[in-house]
Amino acid sequence: MENIKIISNNQEETKQLAKKFANFLSKGDIVVLTGELGAGKTKFVEGFLENFNLQNEISSPTFNIVNEYVNDNTSIYHFDVYRLLDSDEFYSIGGEEYFERGICLIEWGEIIEDILPKSYIHITIKKDNSNENKRIITFTNVGNSDKYKKILSKLDI
Ligand SMILES: Nc1ncnc2c1ncn2[C@@H]1O[C@H](COP(=O)(O)OP(=O)(O)OP(=O)(O)O)[C@@H](O)[C@H]1O
Ligand SMILES: [Mg+2]
Repeated sequence: MENIKIISNNQEETKQLAKKFANFLSKGDIVVLTGELGAGKTKFVEGFLENFNLQNEISSPTFNIVNEYVNDNTSIYHFDVYRLLDSDEFYSIGGEEYFERGICLIEWGEIIEDILPKSYIHITIKKDNSNENKRIITFTNVGNSDKYKKILSKLDI
């Protein structure tokens, strides 16, 4: 199973989906979020974080590119690489070092596509002309790994 498509009818559904998805992820997992401005990438991340009960947001020196969230056993790194020109810039802020340290959620990750690990989960969020609150959310197993295949199969119920 390489592709799962889920319809969200409002922002709460997007957050609930993200919260459920978060249950299946662990350290070292990488998620790239793509979609136009206002599609709902950050809303998805908000729902994702709720699953972990993470109140402590730690500002880092590159806080406008990565925010770090921790509790006792999980670190989550939320990147927004929209302002980066290319993957060289990501490399120069030490971005790659985060990949193994926790769960990475990367908004606009396509900008740094050439520096991403071979496998990751790519989520695209598309607006739908028929309804301003409707979104089509597609999960793709890039690299076709067994690890991410299992995760996506759990979502498909
Ligand atoms: N089904 C939906 N899922 C998610 N957000 C929705 C939905 N319907 C409406 N919205 C609204 O769309 C907006 C999504 O904003 P959000 O900041 O999450 O977008 P984004 O993709 O992160 O944009 P940016 O590229 O600017 O960071 C919010 O105002 C939210 O209320
Ligand atoms: Mg955003």
